[in-house]
Amino acid sequence: PRVAVIVVAAGSGERLGSGVPKAFVGLDEHTVLHHALVAVFAAPLAQVIVVAPPSRVGDALTEAREVAGDRHDLVSVVPGGPTRQQSVAAGLHAVWADVDVVLVHDAARALTPPAVFERVIDAVRDGHDAVLPVLPVVDTIKRVDEGAVVEAVDRSALAAAQTPQGFRRPVLDEAYAEASADHTDDAALVQAAGGAVWTVAGDERGFKVTTPGDLDRARALLRSEAD
Ligand code: CTP
Ligand code: MG
Repeated sequence: PRVAVIVVAAGSGERLGSGVPKAFVGLDEHTVLHHALVAVFAAPLAQVIVVAPPSRVGDALTEAREVAGDRHDLVSVVPGGPTRQQSVAAGLHAVWADVDVVLVHDAARALTPPAVFERVIDAVRDGHDAVLPVLPVVDTIKRVDEGAVVEAVDRSALAAAQTPQGFRRPVLDEAYAEASADHTDDAALVQAAGGAVWTVAGDERGFKVTTPGDLDRARALLRSEAD
């Protein structure tokens, strides 16, 4: 299939609180966005769309071209919106006509290994409309109401969602065309539109850099591998 990857990088990174948009925070000598794009470009893809903060479109293009090397023709950068969902929608508008599979990936999951991209693409190619990489939930989970535990939740029935999430292109286009509420991921949006979502194994390294602790974890991982 012809695969496009939308890398959403337009968030401000409020919880990280580092003063620059999260995608442009350094992990080692390279930024979050740079690392995310290295894994993206390891996949056999036809197009890469980076959705950047409106004020950083030029910077994002420079970074993406650097990672793309002689495949820089595959790269487009578009400005994002105020929510993740609006940023994905902006990316979707830029997908080329001949693309038939679309992956949506959080730039903030900067250390996601290429193998996760492969599993997601393979599952879409095998006929699944929507594919979500997941990790088992390791914590004991409770449902809580105003401080009181309502019940324990069986964690074997739960999974933690990661990205890249992959879709047959018309499935994602239709879900976005119909979207009413705001969802935190694309699989939820497809599910809300009545679609079926299949899971594949995610990876511990696909954690999202959200808090300062996550940033420390990502930097420490890279440092330990550089030795
Ligand atoms: N994202 C985006 N456009 C937005 C909000 C988020 O493209 N308006 C992207 C982020 O850049 C990130 C991914 O969606 O790669 C996941 O979002 P999150 O981790 O919440 O990033 P931020 O929104 O930047 O962080 P915060 O919520 O702490 O401000
Ligand atoms: Mg956010």
